[in-house]
Amino acid sequence: MGINFDNTNSFIKDYEYKFMESQVKLAHKMLHDRTGQGNDFTGWLDLSLHFDNEEYKRLLNKADEIRENADYFIVIGIGGSYLGARAVIEALNHSFYNLIEKSKSPKVLFAGNNISGKYLSDLFEVIKDKEVYVNVISKSGTTTEPAIAFRFFKKFMEEKYGKEGAKKRIIATTDKSKGALKELAKINGYETFIIPDDIGGRYSVLTPVGLLPIAVSNINTDEILKGAFDAEKIYSNDNLFENECYMYAASRQILNRKGKDIEILTNYEPSLSFISEWWKQLYGESEGKDGKGIYPASVNFTADLHSMGQWIQDGKRNIFETNLIIKELGKDMTIENEEMDLDKLNYLSGKTISYVNEKAFEGTLQAHVKGNVPNLVIEIEKLDEYNMGSLIYFFEKACAISGYIQGINPFDQPGVEMYKKNMFKLLGKPE
Ligand code: PA5
Repeated sequence: MGINFDNTNSFIKDYEYKFMESQVKLAHKMLHDRTGQGNDFTGWLDLSLHFDNEEYKRLLNKADEIRENADYFIVIGIGGSYLGARAVIEALNHSFYNLIEKSKSPKVLFAGNNISGKYLSDLFEVIKDKEVYVNVISKSGTTTEPAIAFRFFKKFMEEKYGKEGAKKRIIATTDKSKGALKELAKINGYETFIIPDDIGGRYSVLTPVGLLPIAVSNINTDEILKGAFDAEKIYSNDNLFENECYMYAASRQILNRKGKDIEILTNYEPSLSFISEWWKQLYGESEGKDGKGIYPASVNFTADLHSMGQWIQDGKRNIFETNLIIKELGKDMTIENEEMDLDKLNYLSGKTISYVNEKAFEGTLQAHVKGNVPNLVIEIEKLDEYNMGSLIYFFEKACAISGYIQGINPFDQPGVEMYKKNMFKLLGKPE
């Protein structure tokens, strides 16, 4: 993968990058020497050095067992305990993976990421007569949304399979020693996978949090890890001008200082929409604090060209775009000639849909740049496991560097406690 900065040239001067050089070096040093704020949550930085291969083997065996025995695999978790897995599963699978009759993997559905009684009731209606495995994921083990969902699933599984049967079909991914979920797993004998102490939720997709659901979905996790571990090396250079990941982080912060405080991640592939959701959580929760931050937004093109396109072209000029462009998708269709040509599309006959999509991107890029919107372009050769691993690491590392340049702790999330405090008070939760 690579990143093209051509369409930021008229917005960022060379000396502005020069000015950033020392700040990036300092941020790199703080991150790698573990002297920056939140340094005890930087285990994701060099995961390859302390990756638990034994646990990973056990995880792959469990994924095989689930693939053989389950019709439905339910992933219970919220925020960092769910978005990464969903993003990768949706990006790399068939667009309609849950609708394929003879699939090599169970259908994957998500729960515990909302507080909707309708959603949960509907979900039980769908799975009640099916073979089900459940993976409940929570680092703290005390998060309300997954805890509520799991209370229902535990009962459902025990009624369906008996206590012993449920025990085999429920897997808990949580802290190695503490939290309510760890306790529940111990008492009920669930198999558990560990979320390392030094990796926070939104940086955890390459731990069992993401790896188990992704492996169950029959996606090659070895290749994802290879992509990420190679990226560790590729993006380890502290020289801003030789490290595209740092150039991305620096560009964001330069633009931010010029009043461009909203970043919109765009894609032209429906299967990438959850990559954007994952990215928004990563950047929103990491950077939006102490009255500072770049607001991370996303659009799915070309659909949103018919809605948000107006705003982007013509609205307040406080935005920049980062485009996620995939060169090779592996599947395509060619538009054919039609005798009547009532839809006036014959000028496209012989052209592929990807070709039309590419021109839509190029045309949009030119229009938005002309409309004073700086555009970065992340180009990915092929939508595959290896590149997905690289992309995940690229975004994680850029986020940490960008956060340090911004002068905040990119690894905590004090702001999310406020709604919980109010909600618990209103619900009458005992102290
Ligand atoms: O990134 C984070 O830390 C959060 O988004 C958490 O992942 C989210 O709140 C879920 O927390 P937990 O895994 O403790 O249930």
